[in-house]
Amino acid sequence: MPQARYKQLVDRLSEDIRQGRLKPGTALPTHRRLATREGISLATATRTYAELQAMGLVSGEVGRGTFVREPIPFGDGVEMHVASGDLLDLSFNYPALPMQTDLLRTALRQLASAGELESVLRYQPHGGRPHEKAIVAAHLKSRGLSVAADEVLITCGAIHALACAAMSLLRPGDAVAVDALSYPGIQVVAELCGLELVALPASGPGLDPDALDALCRRRKIRAVYCMPTLHNPLGWVMPLAQRDALIAVARRRGLLLLEDGTYAFLEKKAPAPLAALAPDITVYVSSLSKSVAAGLRFGFACAPAALVPRIHRAIRATVWNTPTLVTSLCCGWLQDGTVARLEQEKRRDAVARQRIVSTVLAQFEMVRHPASYFVWLPLPAGVRSDAVAMRLKEDNVLVSTAAPYAVGSQPPHAIRLALGSVSHADLKRALEKVGDVVASLDC
Ligand SMILES: Cc1ncc(COP(=O)(O)O)c(C=O)c1O
Repeated sequence: MPQARYKQLVDRLSEDIRQGRLKPGTALPTHRRLATREGISLATATRTYAELQAMGLVSGEVGRGTFVREPIPFGDGVEMHVASGDLLDLSFNYPALPMQTDLLRTALRQLASAGELESVLRYQPHGGRPHEKAIVAAHLKSRGLSVAADEVLITCGAIHALACAAMSLLRPGDAVAVDALSYPGIQVVAELCGLELVALPASGPGLDPDALDALCRRRKIRAVYCMPTLHNPLGWVMPLAQRDALIAVARRRGLLLLEDGTYAFLEKKAPAPLAALAPDITVYVSSLSKSVAAGLRFGFACAPAALVPRIHRAIRATVWNTPTLVTSLCCGWLQDGTVARLEQEKRRDAVARQRIVSTVLAQFEMVRHPASYFVWLPLPAGVRSDAVAMRLKEDNVLVSTAAPYAVGSQPPHAIRLALGSVSHADLKRALEKVGDVVASLDC
């Protein structure tokens, strides 16, 4: 086939995918069928699919065929587009180990053949069925939390748990204290619930109890949002004494503690969660998004028994119940030890990724935890974070600036690198580009 016609075929198929005429998940013809249909050689058909794969538009699965890929989330995760296959995403963390697709395939087959499927078709109790809550409660023991099954609520991810807690336990106008650099989702929740976020200086290693106390002296604060173990984006783990001091302030000032443990599984040696130290005033939220897979949307909250009915109502108003299929799947993995195994492997994986960072970006001062999936990289004076992000994007590397993390003040010039979503080789390649771009702008 002449070069021009071969290119035309690649162009035609890629356009069909980009325009949505070939939908994600569509099985494409076998190489042989494509060759017959287009009147081309088998080698050319294979080359066509290889090129589409390199563009990130299709995936070839051994023994199964070639499929149109899902678009990759881009930017703030709302705008979706089909990314070039060479796009290196250091802006979002969706850590997945290579064997997880097979794990999912096997679990789905088991569910289809042996699972109780009738219940999937019916409404279920808000926040999970009793046996599922008991399974999550057992899992929370590995986080140092001893909770009763009826203090657990199953949600569609940690952000859903956080939103349900905020909308049911807080009122519009309430002020919530947070670190000046914090997980961006809290800003979206606050905006939608009419909450005011009040920033405390992000001095580390965690929310500052003295600064919180001083703030409460000046004005009415209703709650605190914090990530005592594996703070995102700074990787802090709050020492026990600081947790105790924070709880003492919360008790004295009548504050509700919203504790986010989404990344906590990565640090086994962390002190007890606030929800274990002060269970009567803490709502704990977390999920399997980072330890298993973000696309499953499986999360949970545990809350003092008196607050559970209100959070139930928020779950009812938002999803009624989490999708039973996913809940069954995740509870199966929690129960048979799969989640514990994945957590262990991801702890190793995160450490290995941080080692790559240490080698490639050795010349930079960074803020990070040795077993976390992210790095906070303050930029040299005079280097703008938006310029760095823009230059890297032109080079097919996505990073996040400090802006989405900054609460109520001018964001510092820093970038946040998510390490979990690309292969180790691609991570090294992307970090080298980060180092080169920062160095080229630092003059
Ligand atoms: C600290 C923190 N909390 C919550 C979430 C949301 O997690 P989920 O995907 O379970 O909603 C994230 C996601 O990155 C996060 O970093």
